[in-house]
Amino acid sequence: MPEPGDGFVDLVDTDSLWDGEMEAFDVGADEVLLLRVDGEIRAYDGACPHQSISLVDGELAGGVLTCSAHEWQFDARTGESINPRGSRLTRHDVRIDESGVIQVRLCSRTRSGAQPAPTEPAQAR
Ligand code: FES
Repeated sequence: MPEPGDGFVDLVDTDSLWDGEMEAFDVGADEVLLLRVDGEIRAYDGACPHQSISLVDGELAGGVLTCSAHEWQFDARTGESINPRGSRLTRHDVRIDESGVIQVRLCSRTRSGAQPAPTEPAQAR
């Protein structure tokens, strides 16, 4: 169970998100994209930083997330853009509770795109 007031919300059991898969969830008014690469789970804002198309409609292959709209590519492990360079996905805090539920806490975003340093990725069991 999340600590009261710590901002983490339950999303899904870790067994429901296999390596190489991604899935989108509504958290309040935001869409959160969960993905799992090399056993590590990451949470990003679900909207592409280019034109806000939902990233879950894209492709995740070889650790690279490709947006379906204009094929911008991102390193799924870091969120940094690969092609074109100079952009990044907004990353949210993620953890796994003692019962194996993936929890996410939304990071605050600024107009400049700056965000707090993310915590380490959650390691699936
Ligand atoms: S909206 Fe994603 S690449 Fe254009």
